[in-house]
Amino acid sequence: MVIEIKEVKPAKPVSRRISLHSHIRGLGLDDKGRALKIADGLVGQEEAREAAGIVVQMIKEGKMAGKGILFVGPPGTGKTALAVAIARELGEDTPFVVMSGAEIYSTEVKKTEVIMRGVRKAIGIRVREVRKVYEGVVTQIKFAYVRHPFNPYVRVPREARLTLATKDDSLTITVSDEIATQLIRLGVRRGDHIWIDAETGVVNKVGRVKGIEKAKYYDIEPTRYSEMPTGSVKREKEIVRVFTLHDLDVYFASQRLALTELFGIELEKEISSDIRKSVDELVKKWINEGKGEVVPGVLFIDDAHLLDLEAFAFLTRILESEFAPILILATNRGMTKIRGTDIESPHGIPLDLLDRLLIIPTRPYTREEIRDIIKIRADEEEVLLTDEALERLTDYGVERSLRYAVQLLRPAAIVASRKGKVKVDKEDVEEAAKLFADLKQSVEMLKKYEELFLK
Ligand SMILES: Nc1ncnc2c1ncn2[C@@H]1O[C@H](COP(=O)(O)OP(=O)(O)OP(=O)(O)O)[C@@H](O)[C@H]1O
Ligand SMILES: [Mg+2]
Repeated sequence: MVIEIKEVKPAKPVSRRISLHSHIRGLGLDDKGRALKIADGLVGQEEAREAAGIVVQMIKEGKMAGKGILFVGPPGTGKTALAVAIARELGEDTPFVVMSGAEIYSTEVKKTEVIMRGVRKAIGIRVREVRKVYEGVVTQIKFAYVRHPFNPYVRVPREARLTLATKDDSLTITVSDEIATQLIRLGVRRGDHIWIDAETGVVNKVGRVKGIEKAKYYDIEPTRYSEMPTGSVKREKEIVRVFTLHDLDVYFASQRLALTELFGIELEKEISSDIRKSVDELVKKWINEGKGEVVPGVLFIDDAHLLDLEAFAFLTRILESEFAPILILATNRGMTKIRGTDIESPHGIPLDLLDRLLIIPTRPYTREEIRDIIKIRADEEEVLLTDEALERLTDYGVERSLRYAVQLLRPAAIVASRKGKVKVDKEDVEEAAKLFADLKQSVEMLKKYEELFLK
């Protein structure tokens, strides 16, 4: 009998968690796609949020692959925040890769290679396979040890004997040293619900099941509790995984690496196009055989005006290739020169790429909106503010920048706590503002000093 258990192993989560945006849970739209004034950690910017909601729907319906979005707006108007919100809406199953335009300039790796890696990380392949597994709750577990062959003072597991049980079945198995080592590493004990891949020997921990005899339960456990499994211990299990093309590239490259090490050849700093080609071939085969499907993810490039012509040309080509991610760019530049050239172009982006992008503008916030955003950030960072402190921060948000006001929260909280206060006052905010400059101030200060030096 085939027991079907579906589970989705999430793709690699967003590669960089941006704590500046940790308060954002989604786009805050109702079921008609209309933006609620304040929801999911977002405030205002309704039109841009609704536009982003349409983009999310297009992505989910698979109608966005090979297309792009450009967020344009003044600094601190939530361009990066909205991109993060899109990622949250798409869920963990859709790869979302964050890069900054500045990131592509490295002395070690070619620009195009950095972008290519981002692209490959942003394309997921969902693969379904049926594996033979042993699954159940551990009711007995015992290890046998031997001395380490090279170090007699160290004991290593030789094998393990364990009993796995379900509601309907119970089976005692003996497993090899490799599996025993994994069991130890994962800290598997009585009461743990696990499954072992019968062919690869990979051990997976599902959770803990209550009420197993002689098992010790703690008040707080790092794993979640699961139900006692049913069916037989030896079974077939359908496993759904999402790999990215990059995962497969690295896997193939490491196999190649093993060979090159053997022959004393250095592995190039890049993944060769040969490897990528063979990965593409394999993936296409999976798709044709119905074993896998493409999950186009998002490649988000923040501060896109930092890219140069070569990078833009490369991106434009990528958008037309077989496996293309959804491209989201953001910039706060208007008419400006494309980096490294004298060519003026809107947002510093070449026209042939611009032609392929849907543009979503973000507009400056009102005072009320700035106040609401600061309030949400204060909650998120667990900073208690008096009403006057919130007003003062809102002043800074309006006069200087939202980013500045948001970043002042922590220092102000420290200033307050040093005085033994739980709540941040107006004075604490002002003190913090005296210690930390905003951009305008810091630039002006340096200008003043430069003039002194030149005299
Ligand atoms: N509508 C909003 N609701 C809630 N928080 C927001 C909103 N807009 C911006 N923020 C928060 O304000 C801060 C500044 O916004 P963000 O960094 O997204 O601006 P940006 O447009 O990307 O600016 P830049 O052009 O400088 O990159 C962040 O902490 C962000 O999470
Ligand atoms: Mg930004």
